[in-house]
Amino acid sequence: MLEIIKQYHQEIKDIHLQNIDELEHYRVKYLSKKGIISGLFEKFRAASAEEKRSIGKPLNELKKEAEEIHLHFKEIFDAQKNIDFKTFNDLSLPGEGFETGARHPISLVRKQIIDIFHGLGFVIAEGPEIEDDWHNFSALNFPEEHPARDMQDTFFIEKKNGKDDIALRTHTSSVQVRLMQNGKPPFRAIMPGRVYRNETISARAHCFFHQVEGMYVDKQVSFADLKQTLYFFVQEMFGADTKVRFRASYFPFTEPSAEMDISCTICKGKGCNLCKNSGWVEILGCGMIDPNVLKNCGIDSETYTGFAFGMGIERITNLKYQIKDLRLFSENDIRFLKQFNHEIV
Ligand code: DAH
Repeated sequence: MLEIIKQYHQEIKDIHLQNIDELEHYRVKYLSKKGIISGLFEKFRAASAEEKRSIGKPLNELKKEAEEIHLHFKEIFDAQKNIDFKTFNDLSLPGEGFETGARHPISLVRKQIIDIFHGLGFVIAEGPEIEDDWHNFSALNFPEEHPARDMQDTFFIEKKNGKDDIALRTHTSSVQVRLMQNGKPPFRAIMPGRVYRNETISARAHCFFHQVEGMYVDKQVSFADLKQTLYFFVQEMFGADTKVRFRASYFPFTEPSAEMDISCTICKGKGCNLCKNSGWVEILGCGMIDPNVLKNCGIDSETYTGFAFGMGIERITNLKYQIKDLRLFSENDIRFLKQFNHEIV
């Protein structure tokens, strides 16, 4: 009897059923009450105890396999039931093309910025979007209860006791702190990421946006290095005829601090709506890293100096592609996004 079981096993093993009729035929032949497998079980019951011991397992396996094969083909034929084969088989019908996706303009510009700095030897670093007060403010020299903390309307997640408050980061400068804490100078890194501020959403402001932070810490890094690096960036990003100017400014984490303007990309400095007739548009904040920040992060501020800068990716994108409403970036309107299909990165 073991031989017979083996034979049937062999018979069904590679069976290929073509349609529902063949499936039904298969079921009746092997799995129905009067089918082969039931017949074998009847014989099994009549067999001697010794024979039972040797055929019990193979017989159960045969049954299991026969049932699995039935289920496998049943699922295939059930799925096919829902397909209209007449339509399907008409090869003269026009095909339906796939809509291809495109990169988001923010991703495009982020990549362009990264590539430019990568060429100068900057590495990419990232940090968490949920940050504690220390990394976002204290380590960056924002004194406790200092009004500068109100400059950036923060989304708090947990209010503890000031130092341990947890918030959505308001800028990517927090990544500078994490990098310096966890490594040794020299540092030459750019840090792209999303940041959050509690702002009313309008064409000119949003509650989340993107920044790229840059930092260079080494022996003898000077303001001249900062200027030259950013000048190179502007030429690469906006073209060789773009002019640059620095205005003195204030940030708690840099001393001296500056804001950098470029000649208006639309009117080329003649004066238009975008630049409010000044011929200049601001694109980033920068400065020499305050020695207090270096100390807070465990860097020897006698030996090392550094510069830092931070820019909004949306702002750069607006200037590059003349997008006037910030909300377009997060609405996912396909008519807006499609316009960037042709941009190659
Ligand atoms: N963190 C500042 C902001 O969000 C931008 C900034 C200014 C970053 C000066 C810097 C810097 O690294 O040196 O407005």
